[in-house]
Amino acid sequence: MKAAVSSVIENQLQNNEFLGDVLEGLGRKRKTLPCKYLYDEVGSRLFEEICDSQDYYLTRNEADIFTTYRDEIAQKFGPETLLIEPGAGNCEKVEELLDAMDSPRGYCPIDISPEILLEAEKRIKKSLPEVQVWSEVGDFSQSEVWNKLIHVSSRKKVIFFPGSTIGNFEPLEAERLLKLFASNLGAGDGLLIGTDLVKDSVILERAYNDSDHVTERFNLNLLQRINVELGANFDLSLFAHRAFYHPLRQRVEMHLVCLKNHSISIADTCIDFTEGETIHTENSHKYSIAGFKSLLTRSGFESVCFWQDPAKTYVIHYAQAI
Ligand SMILES: C[S@@+](CC[C@H](N)C(=O)[O-])C[C@H]1O[C@@H](n2cnc3c(N)ncnc32)[C@H](O)[C@@H]1O
Repeated sequence: MKAAVSSVIENQLQNNEFLGDVLEGLGRKRKTLPCKYLYDEVGSRLFEEICDSQDYYLTRNEADIFTTYRDEIAQKFGPETLLIEPGAGNCEKVEELLDAMDSPRGYCPIDISPEILLEAEKRIKKSLPEVQVWSEVGDFSQSEVWNKLIHVSSRKKVIFFPGSTIGNFEPLEAERLLKLFASNLGAGDGLLIGTDLVKDSVILERAYNDSDHVTERFNLNLLQRINVELGANFDLSLFAHRAFYHPLRQRVEMHLVCLKNHSISIADTCIDFTEGETIHTENSHKYSIAGFKSLLTRSGFESVCFWQDPAKTYVIHYAQAI
């Protein structure tokens, strides 16, 4: 009974934070919503579909790098390393790596989306029964979730951050996040991180406007989530998905464009939308190799090496905490 009551309170607290963030973002002159809310259960499943799509080259090319260099990467870690994966999602990329590692100490996936994480934990425990798994549901950009992992002792830690998730953060936020990662590592511990390279805008825009319209559904699902969890009354047919490359900011921006003047309400707050205005829902920053190395240096890491796919579209960096 006690556990049921505390989970009700936890849900209410999370909903309060969600509501606060939504009202704050939609109350701005340029409306915005934090991209972490794209990942409810439906959003996480849609993201899996995006990763499988032909147009979204990032996942495929990153997976190629892991398959080609997994032994070399695992050797960099050394034996008895604890792998921590913030934003692990379905934890698909880690199994190959854990399998190549010498006596891994264990694996700690962290994700904001509980359903997908718990399903992945079950799968890993079955396929790699010798690996200990401690998963945590929470926001990896907040220290609270990292504090929950303090009890897991290890000879060496490596933070594994694939999927170009770092690209979702504006450069200053990315620096703050990498500093938070560094503060949870000791000198010589590692960071294995995937970043998408700056490239032709046609390829980039195709990746975020896939021909099966899965990214469109992923983007619109955020409004549906707000309707379901916060009792809002968005009419999804009054918004359209738009994703484009912004060359000066070196990022793909994802927006929901309002198609007609109208108002909606969320928890007694009325919000007006005018035709043509947008809700900015996600950024995906692209980096050059040198640009990302410099971000690593500013954030408390020393770049050790990097690997690329044959077409040089994507990079996996390995760095050590100083
Ligand atoms: C771009 S996906 C990458 C998933 C997976 N790591 C991969 O490489 O395919 C981002 C993942 O991070 C999670 N996520 C996004 N923001 C988060 C946050 N602030 N805290 C925890 N998880 C977050 C999402 O639920 C999602 O699973």
